[in-house]
Amino acid sequence: MKMYLGFFSDNCAGVLPEIMEAISAENSGFTRPYGYDHTTGESKEVLREHLGDAEVNFMLTGTGANVALIAAALKPFQGVICPETAHINVDECGAPERFTSCKLLSVPAENGKLNPKYITKFAHNVGFEHNVQPVMVSISQATEAGSLYTVDEISEIARITHENGMYLHMDGARITNAACAMGKTIKEISGDLGVDLLSLGGTKAGMMFGEAAVFFNKELAADFKYIRKQSMQLLSKSRYIAAQFKRMFEDDLWLKAAGHANAMAAYLGERLEAINGVTLSRKPEVNAVFAQIPRSAIDVIIKEFGFYIWNEELNEVRLMTSFATEKKDIDAFADRLAEVMKTV
Ligand SMILES: Cc1ncc(COP(=O)(O)O)c(C=O)c1O
Repeated sequence: MKMYLGFFSDNCAGVLPEIMEAISAENSGFTRPYGYDHTTGESKEVLREHLGDAEVNFMLTGTGANVALIAAALKPFQGVICPETAHINVDECGAPERFTSCKLLSVPAENGKLNPKYITKFAHNVGFEHNVQPVMVSISQATEAGSLYTVDEISEIARITHENGMYLHMDGARITNAACAMGKTIKEISGDLGVDLLSLGGTKAGMMFGEAAVFFNKELAADFKYIRKQSMQLLSKSRYIAAQFKRMFEDDLWLKAAGHANAMAAYLGERLEAINGVTLSRKPEVNAVFAQIPRSAIDVIIKEFGFYIWNEELNEVRLMTSFATEKKDIDAFADRLAEVMKTV
């Protein structure tokens, strides 16, 4: 039997058909490269409707967007306060440190979130030359643990960050899922609340590739065109990223895709909760489901359905959904898990 990989990551899904069509429609004639084409201009106009008066730069990868945004705001003796579970801290192979020379100041995470008390704690190091100078706070929305910061939590983090002379970065690899779940626009949960820099995700939302580095704080963008090139994120045929963003945001495609992914996670959560011996370890808030399953059952089912074991000690697994998740695959997984649970 072929292994089902849909729950492994939202990166395992293909591309939204509408995005495929947009790529194809872009595929004619000649244009200027490196972002000096018409589609890039049009796409930025479309994004401005969602982001307001922000500066937008197209990037290749989420890691690249995060790293280049850190480089735009920090000097090598400065650092980024982030929860220990942050993608920049655990899943970017040290790229932020290697390419920016800045230290990540990771602190204990609470359900994937940053407690603002740690910002104040690091603020005590300001001005002491023996300590890395904290200049940025980075939070992910949605978080790597599938949780959401509330509007009040983001505002409070932004307030404390700015009060201490620091910048707020948001890793928005899954910001469409977050905005959809919160019933808000992207701007309402980022720039409007004091986020200075946003890594705006496209890939997990249903694009083939492409992310955007967004400057709500435009002063920080002054040297960004050089930084993007040096960090190898300037795609020559950049019009294909632009075409995808334009299509994603020119109507509510982003919302429909995120809404489906989130709804599928809610359904998966319901199905798992109903299985004797399986418990949801976190409330599904976006497109991630975390469940505790007895190890002997994990060992059987993981051979048929791919997923991450998130916490080995707790036998906690992570199951992701996407725009492409089908109800029938959730049913197949839940039915099979229920069957396996009867044998363990
Ligand atoms: C929270 C978060 N940030 C950023 C990224 C971007 O990763 P990549 O560099 O693979 O595009 C991911 C992808 O898994 C992610 O989950």
